Amino acid sequence: MNAPTMPPGLRWDDTRSRLKVLTPELADIALRDPHIITGVDRSKESMARLMPAEDGAPTIVQFFELWYTVNDNYTPFNTELRKVFTARSAAECADRFTALAARHAAALPARGDLARDYFGPYLTTSTFAMLGVPEGDWPNLTKVAKLVIHLFKQQLLGVTEHSAAEVRAFETVMRYLKSLTDRLLADGSSPFLDAARTLSTMDTGTWPIAALVGQLLMAGIEPMITASAVAVREIWRDPALPGRLRDGDADAGQVAEEVMRQQPPFGNIFRFVREPCDCLGVRLDPGTVVAIDTAAVNLAEAPAADPAHGCPVRPSAVLTFGRGTHYCLGANSARLQVATGLRELVRRPVALDPSAVRIDTHNNLKEVRAVPYTLQEES
Ligand code: HEM
Repeated sequence: MNAPTMPPGLRWDDTRSRLKVLTPELADIALRDPHIITGVDRSKESMARLMPAEDGAPTIVQFFELWYTVNDNYTPFNTELRKVFTARSAAECADRFTALAARHAAALPARGDLARDYFGPYLTTSTFAMLGVPEGDWPNLTKVAKLVIHLFKQQLLGVTEHSAAEVRAFETVMRYLKSLTDRLLADGSSPFLDAARTLSTMDTGTWPIAALVGQLLMAGIEPMITASAVAVREIWRDPALPGRLRDGDADAGQVAEEVMRQQPPFGNIFRFVREPCDCLGVRLDPGTVVAIDTAAVNLAEAPAADPAHGCPVRPSAVLTFGRGTHYCLGANSARLQVATGLRELVRRPVALDPSAVRIDTHNNLKEVRAVPYTLQEES
């Protein structure tokens, strides 16, 4: 493809061989266009072939293929899940999120790393609580989440070979995830589990529900940690802001929203051209990778503002959580979890040097490397 022929709002990235989309108008078209799809279309493949035995375990590849977003159950799963991942359901978890954030903030060591010692445990356990997982299962489910997140990142980097130890660990973790899922379906209680019960009648076994639990853990925890770490760096750049947040003179949800608008956890939203199409104003061949630049689209309507003043555009005008059919299922909850985590953190006497925060922006999902802090003596 030839760079000079590109219409405004599009750019051909020669290094990565992909089309960049930079404006809200073109992003809207790309995200709603039937010729441009989210990824591999597996809807023709038989679910029966993908399904492990009830007492077995999927291979790593099989597990990712069982995800509802890539198989032919997408529409019924999406319809049922959207009914329960609402702003109201998220709000019903608010007290639980606050209690968990406060518990982890109170347990902070005198010095350490906020991603490891605070945001990781708080955002993991609050996600478990929202799904309706009892506390006794949290330590084991944390192991599931860590392994699934690790393997998913490897998959994104193109790693297809796994060591024998990794394969064994995966099988153990999968058997646990399946038995936990069956227990939760039998007697757990939460809006998510009500939806999961309805969905479990669609297949002969419950592996699709176990895969769904795994998928939700993978989808949400890391981007929430990233969003929180970036927000912390920006909050502590303004020496007055932690105190203003603590005193209620600034709003943690608004600050987080603006930080995520400027520095979204996902740098791009990817799509793939399935059929020849001209919808973006240029001829696109099947197989072309389309990368919608989240920050460019977010900032097109209003330039970056001081996060202390909040987000100058409406939440529906940002692309941080996607748009259209595949809009983030967990957006309501993620916004609340991140804001609650920040609100409880500023209540502790945290000292933090923003220039020591390390966030790797190399891959599509920014990755937190270090958020070092110390606790000051409380007077
Ligand atoms: C700050 C945190 C988060 C960010 C920035 C984020 C961002 C996104 C984005 C941009 C998409 C759209 C992807 C696309 O169109 O290809 C998406 C989809 C999705 N997200 Fe999130 N997400 C976050 C947290 C969560 C949480 C907490 C959950 C689950 C509880 C979750 C579950 C999902 C799911 C299941 C999808 C796929 C929806 C579909 O295809 O219909 N996300 N997310």
